[in-house]
Amino acid sequence: MSNGDVSLGRRRFLIGATSVVGGVGVVGAAVPFVASWNPSAKAEAAGAPVTVNISKIEPGQQITVSWRGKPVWIVNRTQKMLDNIKKLNDRVKDPESQESDQPDYITGIYRSIRDEYAVLVGICTHLGCVPTYRPEVAPEDIGPDWLGGYVCACHGSQYDLAGRVFPNQPAPLNLEVPPYRYDDDSTVVIGLDPEAA
Ligand code: FES
Repeated sequence: MSNGDVSLGRRRFLIGATSVVGGVGVVGAAVPFVASWNPSAKAEAAGAPVTVNISKIEPGQQITVSWRGKPVWIVNRTQKMLDNIKKLNDRVKDPESQESDQPDYITGIYRSIRDEYAVLVGICTHLGCVPTYRPEVAPEDIGPDWLGGYVCACHGSQYDLAGRVFPNQPAPLNLEVPPYRYDDDSTVVIGLDPEAA
């Protein structure tokens, strides 16, 4: 799995790409990160919060937004996905994220404010590649025990659908959870804590 030659120049970010759960698997498009840069993205890179309407994210779908120059994933997790996360509690390295990077108000196995919506920084905690969304259960290329999650193509690290890393992987920690809050049921603001004005 390791190719050992990852460089900044090879890193690619999924911007505005969506991946949809379906019979044929994942749909997505890789876009070179720098090529997608625009004035609003510059403001985001400077630290501005990013407001996202999540009402159109279908069950099982992931969207990617840019915050501070990083890809942030928002996934509308189905009940089946949540059930599968629970089943993996004794298989992931840090099930309660005691050692991982996330805000204090993010607790529990789902690592989110509302269980159904994951909000994760889409950067592998090994060397910074962008893992691929693989929500399918038991796909042929990963294996029968796979219950959905993320696979990093750079050196093979695997995470579940809460961004929890599996043991004995190059990546040491769970995926980061950014600060975020809900302004209403369908509006997430990435970059602001819930108590912020
Ligand atoms: S960057 Fe090495 S496994 Fe992801």
